[in-house]
Amino acid sequence: MSLSDVLAVWLCLLTVSQAYVEVYGCPATGYFGSNCSVPCPDVNCQYCHIKTGTCQGCKPGYKGHRCEITCERGTYGAGCKETCEHCRDVNQCSVNNGTCLTGCDAGFKGDLCKTACDRGSYGYDCKETCGHCRDRYPCSNINGWCLTGCDPGYQGDLCKTSCDIGSYGSECNETCGHCRAVDHCSNINGTCLTGCDADYQGDSCKTLCPVGYFGQDCSDTCINSYTCDGCSDVSGSCDYGCRPGWIGYFCQKRMQERSKVRRLAVDKSGR
Ligand SMILES: *[C@@H]1O[C@H](CO)[C@@H](O)[C@H](O)[C@H]1NC(C)=O
Ligand SMILES: *[C@@H]1O[C@H](CO)[C@@H](O)[C@H](O)[C@H]1NC(C)=O
Ligand SMILES: *[C@@H]1O[C@H](CO)[C@@H](O)[C@H](O)[C@H]1NC(C)=O
Ligand SMILES: *[C@@H]1O[C@H](CO)[C@@H](O)[C@H](O)[C@H]1NC(C)=O
Repeated sequence: MSLSDVLAVWLCLLTVSQAYVEVYGCPATGYFGSNCSVPCPDVNCQYCHIKTGTCQGCKPGYKGHRCEITCERGTYGAGCKETCEHCRDVNQCSVNNGTCLTGCDAGFKGDLCKTACDRGSYGYDCKETCGHCRDRYPCSNINGWCLTGCDPGYQGDLCKTSCDIGSYGSECNETCGHCRAVDHCSNINGTCLTGCDADYQGDSCKTLCPVGYFGQDCSDTCINSYTCDGCSDVSGSCDYGCRPGWIGYFCQKRMQERSKVRRLAVDKSGR
Protein backbone atom coordinates (compact mmCIF):
# COMPACT_ATOMS: atom_id res chain seq x y z
CA MET A 1 0.00 0.00 0.00
CA SER A 2 1.52 3.32 -1.04
CA LEU A 3 1.42 6.45 1.04
CA SER A 4 -1.11 8.04 -1.32
CA ASP A 5 -3.40 5.02 -0.93
CA VAL A 6 -3.28 5.32 2.87
CA LEU A 7 -3.99 9.03 2.55
CA ALA A 8 -6.94 8.36 0.27
CA VAL A 9 -8.45 5.88 2.74
CA TRP A 10 -7.95 8.27 5.61
CA LEU A 11 -9.62 11.11 3.73
CA CYS A 12 -12.51 8.88 2.86
CA LEU A 13 -13.02 7.85 6.50
CA LEU A 14 -12.92 11.48 7.54
CA THR A 15 -15.64 12.35 5.04
CA VAL A 16 -17.86 9.53 6.26
CA SER A 17 -17.48 10.49 9.92
CA GLN A 18 -18.20 14.13 9.13
CA ALA A 19 -21.33 13.14 7.28
CA TYR A 20 -22.35 11.10 10.31
CA VAL A 21 -21.87 14.05 12.63
CA GLU A 22 -23.85 16.26 10.26
CA VAL A 23 -26.82 13.90 10.12
CA TYR A 24 -26.95 12.47 13.64
CA GLY A 25 -24.98 15.16 15.31
CA CYS A 26 -27.13 15.99 18.31
CA PRO A 27 -27.08 13.69 21.33
CA ALA A 28 -30.78 14.33 22.01
CA THR A 29 -33.00 13.01 19.21
CA GLY A 30 -35.55 15.37 17.76
CA TYR A 31 -33.34 18.49 18.02
CA PHE A 32 -30.95 20.34 15.76
CA GLY A 33 -28.97 23.60 15.52
CA SER A 34 -25.43 24.41 16.69
CA ASN A 35 -26.57 24.02 20.33
CA CYS A 36 -28.86 21.07 19.57
CA SER A 37 -31.60 23.02 21.28
CA VAL A 38 -34.02 23.64 18.41
CA PRO A 39 -36.73 20.98 17.97
CA CYS A 40 -36.87 19.41 14.52
CA PRO A 41 -39.56 21.20 12.51
CA ASP A 42 -41.50 17.99 11.86
CA VAL A 43 -43.08 16.78 15.11
CA ASN A 44 -42.70 13.07 14.37
CA CYS A 45 -39.10 13.39 13.21
CA GLN A 46 -36.53 11.55 15.25
CA TYR A 47 -33.34 12.70 13.46
CA CYS A 48 -33.12 15.97 11.57
CA HIS A 49 -30.25 17.65 9.78
CA ILE A 50 -28.08 19.43 12.30
CA LYS A 51 -27.90 22.56 10.16
CA THR A 52 -31.08 22.65 8.05
CA GLY A 53 -33.50 20.70 10.23
CA THR A 54 -34.56 18.52 7.30
CA CYS A 55 -35.89 15.24 8.62
CA GLN A 56 -33.53 12.30 8.15
CA GLY A 57 -35.46 9.62 10.03
CA CYS A 58 -38.91 9.31 11.59
CA LYS A 59 -39.95 8.20 15.06
CA PRO A 60 -41.28 4.61 15.15
CA GLY A 61 -44.86 4.68 13.90
CA TYR A 62 -44.43 7.38 11.28
CA LYS A 63 -43.22 7.64 7.74
CA GLY A 64 -43.10 10.04 4.79
CA HIS A 65 -40.55 12.76 3.98
CA ARG A 66 -41.78 14.89 6.82
CA CYS A 67 -42.99 11.94 8.92
CA GLU A 68 -46.48 13.18 8.40
CA ILE A 69 -47.94 9.69 7.71
CA THR A 70 -48.99 7.42 10.58
CA CYS A 71 -48.33 3.70 10.00
CA GLU A 72 -51.21 1.93 8.32
CA ARG A 73 -53.56 -0.13 10.43
CA GLY A 74 -51.85 -3.32 11.55
CA THR A 75 -48.27 -2.06 11.17
CA TYR A 76 -45.91 -0.31 13.52
CA GLY A 77 -42.34 0.56 14.34
CA ALA A 78 -39.44 2.12 12.45
CA GLY A 79 -40.48 2.65 8.85
CA CYS A 80 -43.77 0.86 9.66
CA LYS A 81 -42.01 -2.37 8.81
CA GLU A 82 -43.40 -4.46 11.68
CA THR A 83 -46.75 -6.23 11.64
CA CYS A 84 -49.10 -6.20 14.61
CA GLU A 85 -49.76 -9.61 16.12
CA HIS A 86 -53.01 -11.00 17.56
CA CYS A 87 -54.51 -7.80 18.98
CA ARG A 88 -58.14 -8.05 20.01
CA ASP A 89 -58.70 -4.82 18.08
CA VAL A 90 -56.18 -4.16 15.32
CA ASN A 91 -57.03 -0.45 15.51
CA GLN A 92 -55.66 -0.51 19.03
CA CYS A 93 -52.18 -1.68 18.12
CA SER A 94 -49.67 0.99 19.13
CA VAL A 95 -47.99 2.31 15.97
CA ASN A 96 -45.03 3.10 18.14
CA ASN A 97 -44.21 -0.30 19.66
CA GLY A 98 -46.89 -2.81 18.62
CA THR A 99 -48.45 -3.10 22.07
CA CYS A 100 -52.09 -4.22 21.83
CA LEU A 101 -53.71 -1.49 23.88
CA THR A 102 -57.05 -3.29 24.45
CA GLY A 103 -55.67 -6.78 24.95
CA CYS A 104 -55.21 -9.86 22.82
CA ASP A 105 -57.36 -12.08 20.68
CA ALA A 106 -58.44 -15.37 22.23
CA GLY A 107 -55.48 -17.71 22.53
CA PHE A 108 -52.67 -15.17 22.86
CA LYS A 109 -50.93 -13.21 25.55
CA GLY A 110 -48.16 -10.70 26.15
CA ASP A 111 -47.96 -6.98 25.35
CA LEU A 112 -47.58 -7.80 21.67
CA CYS A 113 -50.01 -10.75 21.77
CA LYS A 114 -47.43 -12.81 19.97
CA THR A 115 -47.27 -15.68 22.48
CA ALA A 116 -49.78 -18.54 22.43
CA CYS A 117 -51.44 -19.47 25.74
CA ASP A 118 -49.54 -21.98 27.85
CA ARG A 119 -50.35 -25.63 27.26
CA GLY A 120 -53.60 -26.53 28.92
CA SER A 121 -55.17 -23.08 28.77
CA TYR A 122 -57.04 -21.18 26.11
CA GLY A 123 -59.33 -18.28 25.30
CA TYR A 124 -59.30 -14.58 26.10
CA ASP A 125 -56.46 -13.74 28.47
CA CYS A 126 -55.72 -17.50 28.48
CA LYS A 127 -58.20 -17.70 31.37
CA GLU A 128 -59.92 -20.97 30.41
CA THR A 129 -58.63 -24.44 31.24
CA CYS A 130 -58.69 -27.30 28.73
CA GLY A 131 -61.17 -30.13 29.36
CA HIS A 132 -60.42 -33.86 29.53
CA CYS A 133 -58.54 -34.11 26.25
CA ARG A 134 -57.17 -37.45 25.18
CA ASP A 135 -53.44 -38.17 24.96
CA ARG A 136 -50.67 -35.72 25.50
CA TYR A 137 -52.11 -33.27 22.99
CA PRO A 138 -53.44 -30.09 24.50
CA CYS A 139 -56.55 -28.29 23.41
CA SER A 140 -56.66 -25.48 20.86
CA ASN A 141 -55.26 -22.33 22.47
CA ILE A 142 -57.99 -20.38 20.71
CA ASN A 143 -61.30 -22.19 21.28
CA GLY A 144 -60.36 -25.04 23.62
CA TRP A 145 -61.33 -27.87 21.29
CA CYS A 146 -59.53 -31.12 22.05
CA LEU A 147 -57.60 -31.95 18.92
CA THR A 148 -57.57 -35.74 19.24
CA GLY A 149 -60.77 -36.44 21.13
CA CYS A 150 -61.60 -36.94 24.78
CA ASP A 151 -60.41 -39.09 27.62
CA PRO A 152 -62.77 -41.97 28.44
CA GLY A 153 -65.86 -40.66 30.22
CA TYR A 154 -66.11 -37.32 28.45
CA GLN A 155 -67.68 -35.98 25.30
CA GLY A 156 -68.09 -32.81 23.25
CA ASP A 157 -65.58 -30.64 21.42
CA LEU A 158 -64.26 -29.34 24.71
CA CYS A 159 -64.40 -32.72 26.51
CA LYS A 160 -65.88 -30.97 29.51
CA THR A 161 -69.18 -32.86 29.45
CA SER A 162 -69.52 -36.23 31.18
CA CYS A 163 -71.01 -39.09 29.20
CA ASP A 164 -74.80 -39.15 29.20
CA ILE A 165 -76.30 -41.08 32.11
CA GLY A 166 -76.18 -44.78 31.35
CA SER A 167 -73.07 -44.68 29.16
CA TYR A 168 -69.36 -44.53 29.82
CA GLY A 169 -65.88 -45.07 28.45
CA SER A 170 -64.07 -44.09 25.30
CA GLU A 171 -66.31 -41.89 23.17
CA CYS A 172 -69.06 -42.78 25.67
CA ASN A 173 -69.64 -45.88 23.56
CA GLU A 174 -70.13 -48.33 26.41
CA THR A 175 -73.46 -48.99 28.10
CA CYS A 176 -73.68 -49.23 31.86
CA GLY A 177 -74.66 -52.60 33.29
CA HIS A 178 -77.43 -53.33 35.77
CA CYS A 179 -76.42 -50.76 38.35
CA ARG A 180 -78.63 -50.34 41.37
CA ALA A 181 -78.67 -46.62 40.52
CA VAL A 182 -77.89 -45.86 36.89
CA ASP A 183 -76.79 -42.32 37.74
CA HIS A 184 -74.12 -43.89 39.91
CA CYS A 185 -72.43 -45.64 37.03
CA SER A 186 -68.89 -44.26 36.66
CA ASN A 187 -68.71 -42.27 33.43
CA ILE A 188 -65.10 -43.35 33.13
CA ASN A 189 -65.01 -47.10 33.68
CA GLY A 190 -68.63 -48.17 34.18
CA THR A 191 -68.19 -49.23 37.80
CA CYS A 192 -71.56 -49.22 39.57
CA LEU A 193 -70.64 -47.06 42.51
CA THR A 194 -73.60 -48.09 44.69
CA GLY A 195 -73.74 -51.77 43.74
CA CYS A 196 -75.82 -53.89 41.40
CA ASP A 197 -79.47 -54.54 40.74
CA ALA A 198 -80.81 -57.84 42.00
CA ASP A 199 -79.44 -60.89 40.15
CA TYR A 200 -76.27 -59.18 38.91
CA GLN A 201 -72.71 -59.06 40.12
CA GLY A 202 -69.33 -57.59 39.24
CA ASP A 203 -67.92 -54.05 39.23
CA SER A 204 -70.01 -53.07 36.25
CA CYS A 205 -72.92 -55.41 37.09
CA LYS A 206 -72.93 -57.04 33.70
CA THR A 207 -72.61 -60.59 34.97
CA LEU A 208 -75.57 -62.67 36.18
CA CYS A 209 -75.35 -64.29 39.58
CA PRO A 210 -73.70 -67.72 39.53
CA VAL A 211 -75.99 -70.61 38.67
CA GLY A 212 -78.14 -71.43 41.67
CA TYR A 213 -77.99 -67.95 43.17
CA PHE A 214 -80.16 -64.86 42.78
CA GLY A 215 -81.27 -61.69 44.44
CA GLN A 216 -79.51 -58.66 45.83
CA ASP A 217 -75.78 -59.33 45.98
CA CYS A 218 -76.56 -62.87 44.74
CA SER A 219 -77.17 -63.81 48.34
CA ASP A 220 -80.33 -65.89 47.79
CA THR A 221 -80.07 -69.52 46.83
CA CYS A 222 -82.30 -71.39 44.38
CA ILE A 223 -84.10 -74.53 45.50
CA ASN A 224 -81.76 -77.23 44.27
CA SER A 225 -79.10 -74.69 43.51
CA TYR A 226 -76.83 -77.32 41.95
CA THR A 227 -79.36 -78.56 39.43
CA CYS A 228 -81.35 -75.43 38.58
CA ASP A 229 -80.16 -73.36 35.66
CA GLY A 230 -81.38 -70.10 37.17
CA CYS A 231 -84.51 -69.77 39.20
CA SER A 232 -87.35 -67.40 40.02
CA ASP A 233 -86.07 -64.62 42.17
CA VAL A 234 -89.35 -64.74 44.07
CA SER A 235 -89.95 -68.40 44.77
CA GLY A 236 -86.62 -69.96 44.01
CA SER A 237 -88.28 -72.44 41.66
CA CYS A 238 -86.38 -73.57 38.58
CA ASP A 239 -88.17 -71.40 36.01
CA TYR A 240 -85.31 -71.25 33.55
CA GLY A 241 -84.67 -74.93 33.12
CA CYS A 242 -82.31 -77.43 34.63
CA ARG A 243 -78.65 -78.08 34.30
CA PRO A 244 -77.78 -80.89 31.85
CA GLY A 245 -78.77 -84.29 33.19
CA TRP A 246 -81.56 -83.03 35.45
CA ILE A 247 -85.29 -82.70 34.97
CA GLY A 248 -88.41 -81.89 36.99
CA TYR A 249 -90.09 -78.77 38.31
CA PHE A 250 -87.38 -78.39 40.91
CA CYS A 251 -84.82 -80.18 38.71
CA GLN A 252 -84.76 -82.81 41.37
CA LYS A 253 -84.80 -85.84 39.08
CA ARG A 254 -81.77 -87.29 37.36
CA MET A 255 -82.33 -88.14 33.71
CA GLN A 256 -82.52 -91.88 33.08
CA GLU A 257 -80.18 -91.88 30.13
CA ARG A 258 -78.18 -94.90 31.12
CA SER A 259 -81.21 -97.19 31.36
CA LYS A 260 -82.44 -95.87 28.03
CA VAL A 261 -79.16 -96.83 26.41
CA ARG A 262 -79.16 -100.20 28.02
CA ARG A 263 -82.72 -100.86 26.86
CA LEU A 264 -81.76 -100.01 23.26
CA ALA A 265 -78.80 -102.31 23.48
CA VAL A 266 -81.01 -105.09 24.75
CA ASP A 267 -83.51 -104.53 21.94
CA LYS A 268 -80.73 -104.87 19.35
CA SER A 269 -79.25 -108.06 20.71
CA GLY A 270 -82.75 -109.52 21.16
CA ARG A 271 -83.25 -109.71 17.35
C1 LIG B 1 -26.46 28.65 21.97
O1 LIG B 1 -26.05 28.74 23.32
C2 LIG B 1 -25.54 29.99 23.66
C3 LIG B 1 -24.99 29.95 25.07
O2 LIG B 1 -25.32 28.81 25.76
C4 LIG B 1 -26.64 31.02 23.49
O3 LIG B 1 -26.11 32.29 23.79
C5 LIG B 1 -27.18 30.99 22.09
O4 LIG B 1 -28.30 31.87 21.96
C6 LIG B 1 -27.61 29.62 21.70
N1 LIG B 1 -27.98 29.57 20.30
C7 LIG B 1 -29.09 28.97 19.84
C8 LIG B 1 -29.28 28.97 18.38
O5 LIG B 1 -29.90 28.46 20.61
C1 LIG C 1 -45.84 1.19 23.91
O1 LIG C 1 -46.47 2.38 23.50
C2 LIG C 1 -47.61 2.75 24.28
C3 LIG C 1 -48.23 3.97 23.66
O2 LIG C 1 -48.38 3.83 22.29
C4 LIG C 1 -47.19 2.98 25.73
O3 LIG C 1 -48.32 3.24 26.52
C5 LIG C 1 -46.48 1.74 26.26
O4 LIG C 1 -45.96 1.98 27.54
C6 LIG C 1 -45.34 1.33 25.34
N1 LIG C 1 -44.82 0.05 25.81
C7 LIG C 1 -43.54 -0.22 25.89
C8 LIG C 1 -43.16 -1.58 26.38
O5 LIG C 1 -42.67 0.61 25.60
C1 LIG D 1 -67.69 -45.45 19.07
O1 LIG D 1 -68.80 -45.53 18.20
C2 LIG D 1 -68.60 -44.88 16.95
C3 LIG D 1 -69.90 -44.94 16.18
O2 LIG D 1 -70.69 -46.03 16.57
C4 LIG D 1 -67.47 -45.58 16.22
O3 LIG D 1 -67.23 -44.95 14.99
C5 LIG D 1 -66.20 -45.52 17.05
O4 LIG D 1 -65.16 -46.22 16.45
C6 LIG D 1 -66.46 -46.10 18.43
N1 LIG D 1 -65.28 -45.86 19.26
C7 LIG D 1 -64.79 -46.76 20.11
C8 LIG D 1 -63.60 -46.32 20.88
O5 LIG D 1 -65.27 -47.87 20.26
C1 LIG E 1 -63.55 -46.47 38.19
O1 LIG E 1 -63.78 -45.07 38.27
C2 LIG E 1 -64.10 -44.61 39.58
C3 LIG E 1 -64.40 -43.14 39.49
O2 LIG E 1 -65.39 -42.87 38.54
C4 LIG E 1 -62.93 -44.89 40.51
O3 LIG E 1 -63.28 -44.50 41.81
C5 LIG E 1 -62.59 -46.37 40.47
O4 LIG E 1 -61.42 -46.56 41.22
C6 LIG E 1 -62.38 -46.85 39.07
N1 LIG E 1 -62.20 -48.28 39.06
C7 LIG E 1 -61.23 -48.89 38.36
C8 LIG E 1 -61.20 -50.37 38.44
O5 LIG E 1 -60.42 -48.27 37.70
